Amino acid sequence: MTERAELTPLDEVPPINPEVDKALLPQLTDVAIPLINRHINPARFRDPALRDEFPTVTTYMGDNSDQWTPALMVPWTVGQNFAPNYDWHKDQDKATLPQAAVSALLLGLLTEDNLPWYSETINRKFGGNEALNFWNRIWTGEEDRHSEVMRAYMTTGRLVDPVQLDRDRMAQIITAEVPEPPSATEAFVYVTIQELATRISHMNTGKLIADTVEQDEAIVRLSKDGTALASVEPVKADSLDPEHRESYVRQVARTIMTRIAGDENKHFAFYRDLTEAATQIDPSTVVKALEKQIRGFQMPGTGIRDFWTHAGIVAEAGVYDLEIHHDKILSPVLKRLGFVSLEGLDDEAERARERTLAFMGGLKKTAARYAEQRDERRAAAADDPSIIWVGKPALAV
Ligand SMILES: [Fe+2]
Ligand SMILES: [Fe+2]
Repeated sequence: MTERAELTPLDEVPPINPEVDKALLPQLTDVAIPLINRHINPARFRDPALRDEFPTVTTYMGDNSDQWTPALMVPWTVGQNFAPNYDWHKDQDKATLPQAAVSALLLGLLTEDNLPWYSETINRKFGGNEALNFWNRIWTGEEDRHSEVMRAYMTTGRLVDPVQLDRDRMAQIITAEVPEPPSATEAFVYVTIQELATRISHMNTGKLIADTVEQDEAIVRLSKDGTALASVEPVKADSLDPEHRESYVRQVARTIMTRIAGDENKHFAFYRDLTEAATQIDPSTVVKALEKQIRGFQMPGTGIRDFWTHAGIVAEAGVYDLEIHHDKILSPVLKRLGFVSLEGLDDEAERARERTLAFMGGLKKTAARYAEQRDERRAAAADDPSIIWVGKPALAV
């Protein structure tokens, strides 16, 4: 197999033929409609009469029993007003979070904040397809909940300076630095990878924050349908002693991040199945798209102020790192698509597959090396109170 060092540079790999790319999209309409119906409601998906019926706003609003409301997940009683000339300090953080948790939440929120541009890009790539256009609107509405609930949580918990947070949001929107896959096929391959990556990083963020405290079902119980924090009202955060209040704020983070990760998982399933369907229709084009998006993958938040500093901290804490990227995201996606054994590829796609597998081999080695060094740093920090380590306050408890 080709060694990674010998791989053809990505920018020298021929682009996907625009005509072939354009021809693939209409063929996915018949697949997209049942996938939207499944997303809306499994019962609707299973009913043959409704499965292939084009969904509407009315069916979405009526059928989607899994809708949740950010306002019902936020621990409002923890909050206090910000005086006009307030002065924010890190020690006001009601959850006393480690830096890695704050960095993970910041990256998660500011990445979600760039939603207008993701919607715009998806619309530009898929917009000519009526079904995918409708899906994009559903997806946009659901994604918007994520930034809403995370911002409310972070502001209520006084985790960061709210004015700085809003400036960072504005910078994100104005800079509009978002991934720009050059073809529709690459776009749905990209979002497949990205939704799964987001699911895992949100989930791990919740764990990093809450693993330090006993989960107390009585105070963070969800409502029966899982759409709200059932006991926000009985918890008067003002009357909790600081230790219990901190525990409460941390546990709520896990509940919120798990809820968001659930959405990302459903989005991932939609795009993955779309990619799978495209693979049945035109495996060569999908393989070429996979090579480009796997070898050139970047998370969507690169325009965030101090992105690489926060990304390094988050990797160090094990929320999202190369090993997770390889083992939990890229490998499962390739496995699901039967990448290694796909048949009927043209010559260029065969070469693309070979290069992708060589890249994956190199990535695994690099990831393992990094994880080993990180584990050594983590162990040293755990044994020595004088060593500062980004995830330490969470891990040390
Ligand atoms: Fe999201
Ligand atoms: Fe999502």
